[in-house]
Amino acid sequence: MKWLSILSLLSVAIVTATPIESEGAALVRRADPTGIDVSSYQPNVNWASVKASGVSFAYIKATEGTGYQNPSFSSQYTGATNAGLIRGSYHFARPDVSSGATQANYFIAHGGGWSADGITLPGALDIEYNPYGATCYGLSAASMVSWIHDFANTYHSSTGRYPVIYTTTDWWTTCTGNNSGFGSTSPLWIARYASTVGTLPAGWSYETFWQYADSGANPGDQDYFNGDAAGLKKIATG
Ligand SMILES: *[C@@H]1O[C@H](CO)[C@@H](O)[C@H](O)[C@H]1NC(C)=O
Repeated sequence: MKWLSILSLLSVAIVTATPIESEGAALVRRADPTGIDVSSYQPNVNWASVKASGVSFAYIKATEGTGYQNPSFSSQYTGATNAGLIRGSYHFARPDVSSGATQANYFIAHGGGWSADGITLPGALDIEYNPYGATCYGLSAASMVSWIHDFANTYHSSTGRYPVIYTTTDWWTTCTGNNSGFGSTSPLWIARYASTVGTLPAGWSYETFWQYADSGANPGDQDYFNGDAAGLKKIATG
C-alpha cells in the first residue's frame, strides 16, 4: 500500500511535468518550436547536438552595412542545413552608411537570398540600437521609416518575400515614431528578455519570432516561433 501511493504520487508528478507527452491528458499546452540565432561570436556550433536538443530553426548573421560579412556564415549555414534545421540569415542594418536598397542587395548577394524549398526562412533585417553611435543612426523618424521601406521593398522585389523585421519595442518606438506601416507585410521578430513579449510596436498584433534570451542551453540567442511546426514550415515555403 505504501509503495502504491508513492507510485501514484510519482505518476502524478510525471504527468504534471510533461503534459505535452501525455496523450489524452487534460492539460496539453502548445510546444512552440525553438530556435537560436548566431553570429561570428559563435564560430563553432555543434549543430547536430543543437538539433538533438530539440531546436528546429536558426537565424545566422550574414552581413552588416555594406562592408561586413560574418566570416563563419558559410560553415554555420552549411552546418545548420546538414543537421536538418530550418534556417535563414539576417542583416544588421546600418542606416547611417548607405541606402536601404544598397544594403538589401548586398545582403542578398552574400547569403541573404530566399528560395521556396521549405527549409529557408525569409531574410531578416536586424534594426536596433546603434552599437557605434547615435541610437537612431542620426536619422529622423521619417527618414528611418523610408530607409526601412527601401530595404524591405528591394528585398521583396528580388526574392518575392518581405523581410522579417527584428527589433525591440523601445527602439522602434523611439526611432520610427512607432510607425505602423510594416505589420501587414513583414513578420515581426521581437527581442525581449522577459517572461512575456510585452507591448509590441505599432502595426503588429502578434510576433512571429521572439528572441527571449541572449544565452541558454544552446549557443547564441534563444528564440521561439509563435506557432507550430507546420506554421514554421509554411513560412519557409512561402
Ligand atoms: C505604439 O503603438 C501601439 C499600437 O498602437 C501602442 O499599443 C503603444 O502604446 C504605442 N507605443 C507608444 C510608446 O506610444
